[in-house]
Amino acid sequence: MYVLIKDLPQHIGQEVTLRGWLYNKRGHKKLRFLILRDGTGLCQAVCFRPDLDEAAWNAADQATQETSLEVTGVVNPVDEEHHAPGGVELAVGSVRLVQVPADDYPITPKEHGVDFLMRNRHLWLRSQRQWHLIRLRNEVIFALRKFYYDRGFVCFDSPILTGAIGESAGSLFELEYFDLGSAYLAQTGQLYQEAAIMAHRNTFCFGPTFRAEKSKTRKHLTEFWMLEAEMAYCSHDESLQLQEDMVVYVVRWCLEQCGDALAEVGRDLAPLERAAEGRFERLLYRDAVKLLQKKGSDIQFGEDLGAPEETILGAEFDRPVFVCNYPRAVKAFYMKRNPDDPETVLCADLIATEDHGEIIGGSAREDDIDLLMERIAQEGLPAESYEWYLDLRRYGSVPHAGFGLGLERLVKYVGGLPHIREACCFPRMMEKLYP
Ligand code: 4AD
Ligand code: MG
Repeated sequence: MYVLIKDLPQHIGQEVTLRGWLYNKRGHKKLRFLILRDGTGLCQAVCFRPDLDEAAWNAADQATQETSLEVTGVVNPVDEEHHAPGGVELAVGSVRLVQVPADDYPITPKEHGVDFLMRNRHLWLRSQRQWHLIRLRNEVIFALRKFYYDRGFVCFDSPILTGAIGESAGSLFELEYFDLGSAYLAQTGQLYQEAAIMAHRNTFCFGPTFRAEKSKTRKHLTEFWMLEAEMAYCSHDESLQLQEDMVVYVVRWCLEQCGDALAEVGRDLAPLERAAEGRFERLLYRDAVKLLQKKGSDIQFGEDLGAPEETILGAEFDRPVFVCNYPRAVKAFYMKRNPDDPETVLCADLIATEDHGEIIGGSAREDDIDLLMERIAQEGLPAESYEWYLDLRRYGSVPHAGFGLGLERLVKYVGGLPHIREACCFPRMMEKLYP
């Protein structure tokens, strides 16, 4: 009977067959300990010479790291002391090799440099830490979708090939599009969500977005996944509450479901446990500037927060903090002018703790068509390509708000990762397109 390693505890005393790969091997004299992985977990398979026929023993001997193989044996419980995953191991009766690598596997249990591992990302994925991180990402994606479906949001997929610039002209991937001139890879799905909510009230999209980021940092990818939510008849404050609820939900989910992954990557759980309590501070940009100056930053009112400022804020607060109402000039054209402080817009960035930086950017949307057209002109954006967007203000415009959450930024934060590259499957960065 073929079984998966994750299900082994349900088969104690039975003979089963595992189909997987050899992760590691130890042995002496009459014993070979094969550490198998099958995509669902790790299992120790014990080969005792007198229990195996000649062919099976030779196969166990011949199997090298990452040999694919089938192993049949009886599932035995083991003491905790053995540190056997799942508290079981396999007493092997037979071994069948599927494919034996001709060359030594490039990634050995010893330490390798990051450049080497990144060049071998297609193989690095099989290592325990990377395996756990993709599982963590998978759980974060699931929790996010569940959060929105539970609240009645409709998934509305924004296009990837777009004719209108969504965010800013500075970081666009542009390509030729038949006879229609230029197309751009989407920087955001937001503008299309604004159309969607007038039909469906509350929507979200969750897909890849692209930015030709020329900066080499630990937080920037050129291709990243963004979850964007948009709500009709929604105030900026209500949007902030939803953002907080979402982050709290995902953090709690991961604390409950991803203990193994968090342990594997050595995550300090204390900051996550505090975030799981909610009550994120809402700091005005004006006050953030004063606080930052007091902490030694030379930021002036009117400037965007950079990485050093985010680092200070991340250390200053014990849970993620909203920085609200930035100056109009540093934010995107669609953000709503703050009626109480017209130099600023009704927006917020959520800054995570411990130097993970911005994980969400959102705002109320400008619903005054004249102000919107003025901002489009000021930014030097081609007015024709926004005609459809302006129609949304012409026909039944309503107050609305939304935000975008960077998936890899969130995974980086939840996992406490030093670099964003480990939060995605095949990271795309300025100098990284292969594999
Ligand atoms: O703050 P941003 O640029 O906001 C928008 O694109 C809005 N249109 C979203 C909306 O309101 N619907 O990006 C949103 C988030 C950031 O907070 C960050 O988490 C992530 O996307 N992000 C990146 N993640 C990885 N690499 C990059 N280069 C990123 N740029 C933004
Ligand atoms: Mg932003």
